[in-house]
Amino acid sequence: MTFPATRLRRLRRTGALRSLVRETRLDLADFVLPLFVAPASVPNESLPALGRFSVEDLVPEVDELAHRGVSAVLLFGIPETKDEEGSGAWDDDGIVQRALRELRPRYPELLLVADVCLCEYTSHGHCGVLDGDEIANDETLELLARTAVSQAEAGADAVAPSDMMDGRVGAIRAALDDADLGSTPIMAYSAKYASAFYGPFREAADSAPAFGDRHGYQMDPANVREALRECALDLAEGADVLMVKPALPNLDVIRAVRDRFDAPLAAYNVSGEYAMIKAAAARGWLDERTAALESLTAIKRAGADVVISYWTKELAAWLVA
Ligand code: PBG
Repeated sequence: MTFPATRLRRLRRTGALRSLVRETRLDLADFVLPLFVAPASVPNESLPALGRFSVEDLVPEVDELAHRGVSAVLLFGIPETKDEEGSGAWDDDGIVQRALRELRPRYPELLLVADVCLCEYTSHGHCGVLDGDEIANDETLELLARTAVSQAEAGADAVAPSDMMDGRVGAIRAALDDADLGSTPIMAYSAKYASAFYGPFREAADSAPAFGDRHGYQMDPANVREALRECALDLAEGADVLMVKPALPNLDVIRAVRDRFDAPLAAYNVSGEYAMIKAAAARGWLDERTAALESLTAIKRAGADVVISYWTKELAAWLVA
């Protein structure tokens, strides 16, 4: 049936009709808000969701989030001091561990996810330990595993390794099992690209590499088949949730992973994606809310089940408005 019998505009005529046939909806239950815990609070005026919270200030913030209906947060830590190995990452009295111990008993329903990576904790800013100028893969695995165990012990509901070392999901899975923490899910940053869109995060988390770049461990943005191989390996090693990151430049990757695998899929709407819209909105070039909602809807439509986004707090207000 073609025009004029078929007129697709009929179902676009009113808001009620458009709503009736809408294929993708945003549900706060699918969203995760990243939070930065640091020795002292440092608000960020232009990019509010990239501000840092002291453990003390984090509690009232999370209180507000919980009241707004936010269901999950992803914790990143900025330690007091950094060293070559990133020992602050697995310190039982580390910044994320302390935050988890504060939050866990207060918010039993809130999902607490802990980022597992060394770059915020190493003096050189790389995601693994160094062997000369090389990032040593296998030596890093044990440190990541220790980090995940100490986070789970402190109360994390799930751990999210973002380092991109080979074999880290298996190492973390084995260490959690050994520590009797085998029921802790691993949300693996399976297809994490070496992206220019992490800039504002690295400033917020003080995690920019002191030399070189991350191309030796994060994925080449030109590749999609490789992303599928990463996902297959992570699942085989015991990952529970897969992730594609960043989201918007990689909607095709999200779709490819969704079509190939049945595991839950997360997509990380990263700091640069947030910053681009914030900056354009500050200049009056586009409307933040509409642009953000369009972006988040596109990420879900591409096939993501879970979206990690700096807009999660605003989204809670937008969805009730
Ligand atoms: C740490 C990590 C990064 C992000 C999440 N975890 C930065 C990086 O890999 O350099 C980026 C998130 C964002 O930009 O919002 N490995």
